[in-house]
Amino acid sequence: MSELYIGLMSGTSVDGIDAVLVDFSQPQPRLIQSYYYKFPADLRQSILALCLPGADEIKRMGDTDILLGNAFADAVQVLIQESQISSRQIRAIGCHGQTIRHYPDRGYTLQIGDPNIIAAKTQITTIADFRRRDMAHGGQGAPLVPAFHQAVFAKEGINRAIVNIGGIANVTLLNGNKKNILGFDTGPGNTLLDAWIEKYFQKSYDEKGAWGSQGNIDNALLEKLLSDPYFHLQPPKSTGREYFNLEWLKQYLKIERLPVDVQATLTALTAHSIVNAITPYFSEGEIVVCGGGVYNTFLMDHLQQKAASSFSVYSTHSLGVDPNWVEGMAFAWLARQTLAQEPGNMMAITGASQPAILGGIYQR
Ligand SMILES: Nc1ncnc2c1ncn2[C@@H]1O[C@H](COP(=O)(O)OP(=O)(O)OP(=O)(O)O)[C@@H](O)[C@H]1O
Ligand SMILES: [Mg+2]
Repeated sequence: MSELYIGLMSGTSVDGIDAVLVDFSQPQPRLIQSYYYKFPADLRQSILALCLPGADEIKRMGDTDILLGNAFADAVQVLIQESQISSRQIRAIGCHGQTIRHYPDRGYTLQIGDPNIIAAKTQITTIADFRRRDMAHGGQGAPLVPAFHQAVFAKEGINRAIVNIGGIANVTLLNGNKKNILGFDTGPGNTLLDAWIEKYFQKSYDEKGAWGSQGNIDNALLEKLLSDPYFHLQPPKSTGREYFNLEWLKQYLKIERLPVDVQATLTALTAHSIVNAITPYFSEGEIVVCGGGVYNTFLMDHLQQKAASSFSVYSTHSLGVDPNWVEGMAFAWLARQTLAQEPGNMMAITGASQPAILGGIYQR
C-alpha cells in the first residue's frame, strides 16, 4: 500500500498554507511536492480578527471556517495536480487547521478550517483537530512537532536543538543519547517583528531583517522584555499570539523610542529567548533552524552571536530538509501515526498524563 501523505500547515504568522506531499515508504521521509498558498488579504484579516475577542464571533468564525476549509482543499488540489500523482494513491491528509485561540491553562485550543469540506472536495481521508486529545489528558496540546523532529533529525552523540521560528518559536531538544527529549514554545518568533513593521510600513514582514539591522538594540528594553514571566516558566509550556502581541509589547514601552530601534530589539528578543531556552539543557551542540525565521538574516546572525562558539547555528537545509516545509511534513507524519493507531504526542513535552492517538478522522 502507498505511504503517501499530505500535510497542511498554517501557523501563527497567518501568512498562508504550507501544503506538502510526503512519501514515508523509506526510513527518511521524502518530500515529493510542495505548494504555498498565500492567504488573500481579506481572509488574513478575518483570521487575525478572530484571534482576539470581538463582536459577533460565532458568526465570523463559521464564515471563516468554511472559507478556510475551501482554501485547504484548493491547496491540496493544486499540490496534487503539480505532483501528477493520483489522489487515489494518497492515504490521508493531516491538517493542522488555523489556530484562532490557544489557552492551555484553561484546557482549550481552537483550530478552524472545516475538515469535512477538505475530505468532501478532495475525496481523501482527512485528519484534523490534533491538539485537543492531548489536552483532554491534561497536556498543553503543543508542541506536537517534536516527535517528528526526533524521527528525522536525531543523531547519536550530538546535541541538537531543532528550532522552528514561525509566528511563535518552538524548540525540540534532541539529546545525543536519544533519550529525555524535551520541547516547548520559547516565546515570540516572528509575530512581534511582523506586527511592529506592519504598524509603520505596508509590509507583512521585515525582509531579511533589513529594517531591524539599521537600528540599535536597546539593552535596557531587551532586559525588561526578557523579564516577562513566560520566559521563566518551566516546561511544559506553550503560547500564542493571544499573549505575545502589540498590547504585550506596549506594557514595556513606557518611554518613546525610535521604531527602528524597537525592531532591532525585538529581533534580539527572539534570538536571546531561544538561546536562553536551550542553554540550561545543552552546553554545546547544534542549533538547527526551520520556519520562515531562517530567512531573517539579521535574526540568524543574532542567534549565532548569542549562542557563541559552543553552538553551530544552521538551517535544516543542511540536514537535507527544506526549512519551509518541516512543519507541514510533521502534520503528514502525524496523520500517518493516527491511521497506524500510534500516539502523536510526547508526555514529557506536552505534560499529558498518557500517550494519545491524536486527531479526528474524516473519511473520504
Ligand atoms: N525573506 C524573509 N525575511 C524575513 N522574514 C521572513 C522571510 N520569509 C519569511 N519570513 C518570516 O517568516 C514568517 C512565516 O514563517 P512560517 O510560515 O514558518 O510561520 P508560521 O506560519 O507561523 O508557521 P508555524 O506556526 O508552523 O511555525 C513570516 O511571517 C515572516 O515573519
Ligand atoms: Mg506560515
